[in-house]
Amino acid sequence: NNARIAIDPDFRIGEADRRLFGSFVEHLGRCVYGGVFEPGHPAADPLGLRGDVLALTRELGVSVVRYPGGNFVSGYRWEDGVGPAAQRPRRLDLAWKTVESNAFGLDEFMTWARAAGAEPMLAVNLGTRGVQEACDLLEYANHPGGTELSDRRRRGGAEQPYGIRLWCLGNEMDGPWQIGHKTAEEYGRLAAETARAMKMIDPGVSLVACGSSGRGMPTFGAWEATVLEHAYEHVDYVSAHAYYDPSDGDRASLLASAVDMDAFIRDVVATADHVAARHRHTRRMKISFDEWNVWYMSRPADPERPDWQEAPPLLEDDYTATDAVVVGDLLVTLLRHADRVGVACQAQLANVIAPIRTRTGGPAWRQSIFHPFALTAANARGTVLRIEPAGPSHDTQRYGPVPSLSAVAVHDEEHGAVTLFAVNRAETPLSVEVDLRGLPPMRAAEHVAIAAGDAVNTADAPDAVTPRRLAVPAMDGGRCTLDLAGPSWNMVRLT
Ligand code: AHR
Repeated sequence: NNARIAIDPDFRIGEADRRLFGSFVEHLGRCVYGGVFEPGHPAADPLGLRGDVLALTRELGVSVVRYPGGNFVSGYRWEDGVGPAAQRPRRLDLAWKTVESNAFGLDEFMTWARAAGAEPMLAVNLGTRGVQEACDLLEYANHPGGTELSDRRRRGGAEQPYGIRLWCLGNEMDGPWQIGHKTAEEYGRLAAETARAMKMIDPGVSLVACGSSGRGMPTFGAWEATVLEHAYEHVDYVSAHAYYDPSDGDRASLLASAVDMDAFIRDVVATADHVAARHRHTRRMKISFDEWNVWYMSRPADPERPDWQEAPPLLEDDYTATDAVVVGDLLVTLLRHADRVGVACQAQLANVIAPIRTRTGGPAWRQSIFHPFALTAANARGTVLRIEPAGPSHDTQRYGPVPSLSAVAVHDEEHGAVTLFAVNRAETPLSVEVDLRGLPPMRAAEHVAIAAGDAVNTADAPDAVTPRRLAVPAMDGGRCTLDLAGPSWNMVRLT
C-alpha cells in the first residue's frame, strides 16, 4: 500500500495555538480527590496538591485546564469552595450522585494551575444558577479589590486578582441529563445576557457558549444556530464535545473516529458561518472543543456501588495502545482545523477517562494515551501546514470508506524544523512518499511510533505502552519514504 504527501510551507492553516493542548479537571470520581489533590499523600505539599501528579501534568504539556465541570458545575455553588476549609459545607452532587466535601475549591485550583504552568478555564453554573452568580464569581476572581467579593478573595490570601481570561457559559446545556437543562432558546438568551454582564465587569474575558454535547444529539446543528442567533456578538467561542467508545470491539471504526471529529468541526463551522452571514458579522466564531477523548462509555457501571459516597472511583478507563493511536489522530484533526478551533481540552486529566492514573496513597503513572498527547504538545510548535494525503481508503462499519492515512505537519520557522504527525488507520502497513521540495534541504532527525494493540499501562507495568524509536528514513533529492505499521501513530521530526 502506497500513499503520497507534499509538505509546502506556503500552505498555511494557522498557528498551532497552545490552547489546543488543554485538559479538564472536574469534581468527578477521583479526578480532584485522590488525583490532583490528596492531603497526607507522601508526594503532597502542605496544601494537599500531589507533586507526582503535578510533575506528570507538566510533562504532558497541558496548556489550559477547564474546571470545575462538566456536569458537576450545573449544580455547583462556587462560594462553598472558598473561605476557611473547616467551614465549607458538605453537599450532595446530583450530577454524579456523590457527596462533595468542598475541601478543594477555586483558590486551591488556582494554586494548582499556577504550579502546573496551565491557564485556567473556568465554567460558571447556568443550570441551577444565572447571571448574578456568574457575575459574583467573576468579581471574586478578577476584580482587584475594594468590594465585598474581591476582598473575600484577598482575605483568603490571594491579594492579586486571578485575571482568568477563559470562561465557559455553563456545560452541555443541550443534554437532558444536565441539571437545569434548557431549550436552545432559553439557553441562548441566558448565555447572551450572562455574557453581556460578565463583559461589563471585565471586558478582557473570552467566553464560550455551549454548543452540542455530541454530534449525534437530536438538536445538533439547530442548537448551535439558535444559541448563536442570540449570543453571537457576545461570545468568542462555541463549544463541541465528542467521545469515542471502543466497547463494541469494532476496531476499524474506532480507528476512524477522527473522521467523525473532522465532520463535526466542519458542521459547526458551517452553522456558525451561516449565522454570521445572516447578521452580517465579519468576525468568524471559533470552536472550543472543550471535551474530547476515547471513553468506554457503554461499559456497565459497578452495580454494587452505593450512591452518595465521597470521591468513589468512577470512569477509570484503562487505555490500550489502540486507544493511543486514536487519541493521536484526534490531535491531528484538531491541528488540521487550527484556523477555527481555538481551544481544545482532553477530558479529563487524572483518573477519570484520563492520561494520568493514580492509586490513592500510592503511585501515579502514565496511561498509553499520555504519550501521543505529550509528544504532540511538545512538538507541534509553529505554523500548521495543510497537507492532503493521496492514498488508499478502507471500509469501516460506522463511517463507510475512510482514508487510511491521516496527517498534518507543523513548521517551526524559527528553528527551521518541520514535525509530521501521521496515522495509518488501516490494518496493513503503509509506505508514504514524503515530498519536501518546497522546503530548504532537511534530514529526518527522529521517527517515533505507537503501534495499535491491546497492551495497557498499569501501576505494576507503567511502561507497557511507550512510543518506540524507529530508524529514520534517508532523504533523496528532497523526498523520503516512511514506513508506517498498520495501524499506528507516528511522529517524524525533520530538521
Ligand atoms: O467528562 C465527563 C462528562 O462528560 C462531563 O461531566 C460532561 O460534560 C460530559 O457529558
